[in-house]
Amino acid sequence: MPPAHRISIFPGAQAVARELAARIAHSLRKKPALVLGLPTGRTPLLLYAELARLAAAGAVDFSAATTFNLDEFYGISPSHRGSYRSFMQRYLFDHVNIDGDRVQFLDGSAASAADEGCRYEKAIDEAGGIDLQILGIGSNGHIGFNEPAAALEARTHLVTLKPETRRSNAELFGGDPEAVPTQALSMGMATILDARSIVLVATGERKAACVEKLVTGSISTQLPASFLQLHGDVDIILDEAAASKLTL
Ligand code: GLP
Repeated sequence: MPPAHRISIFPGAQAVARELAARIAHSLRKKPALVLGLPTGRTPLLLYAELARLAAAGAVDFSAATTFNLDEFYGISPSHRGSYRSFMQRYLFDHVNIDGDRVQFLDGSAASAADEGCRYEKAIDEAGGIDLQILGIGSNGHIGFNEPAAALEARTHLVTLKPETRRSNAELFGGDPEAVPTQALSMGMATILDARSIVLVATGERKAACVEKLVTGSISTQLPASFLQLHGDVDIILDEAAASKLTL
């Protein structure tokens, strides 16, 4: 069976970032009021640097765009240095002409995680749904903070983070995995699959095994990324290292 997704492979992470930034800039030209879903993590750092470079050159316009980030730590305020809200401000929002009122984010300091999840789902609906969702992937196959589990929650919800996920986010908290919040809010897989188109980006050898399973394996809650096989418009953009276990 041919893979359900379109797969593009580039020589390195920088070429991946350039390609993806060009696609986003193109989507914004076609639809200035684009609703864009965004990830955090190390992978999109080069993408955000490339978007900042394009913005400085006047080659990308975010002025009418709306963004929704995938996830946020629960139990810290948006202004905490380790929050994903702060991460996005540092690496993207400070460098592009986005209107702050159109930056949508899960609030990690919300008193009720359930109410915050409902608010976010409603905000996505009211914005007309996500046009283009950019995704990274955790090395265990998680998407957003949808961790491998016996069952997945469809919609935006509270998650307990796995020790490996806390470890891989430790950098944001002074390098101490124990300082990483134990819980997070995340869009659910159904929220993500509602996006009109999806681009998953993975770079580096560390992602090769989960990329291979995502592309060729069966759909399993133990590999949340495998649910992307149910979507009709998914692009997977890889560098050669992340593609190294694929036999296409
Ligand atoms: C975090 C984020 C995910 C991201 C993943 C991979 O856990 N919640 O959205 O895809 O990390 O991160 P990296 O790109 O650093 O490997």
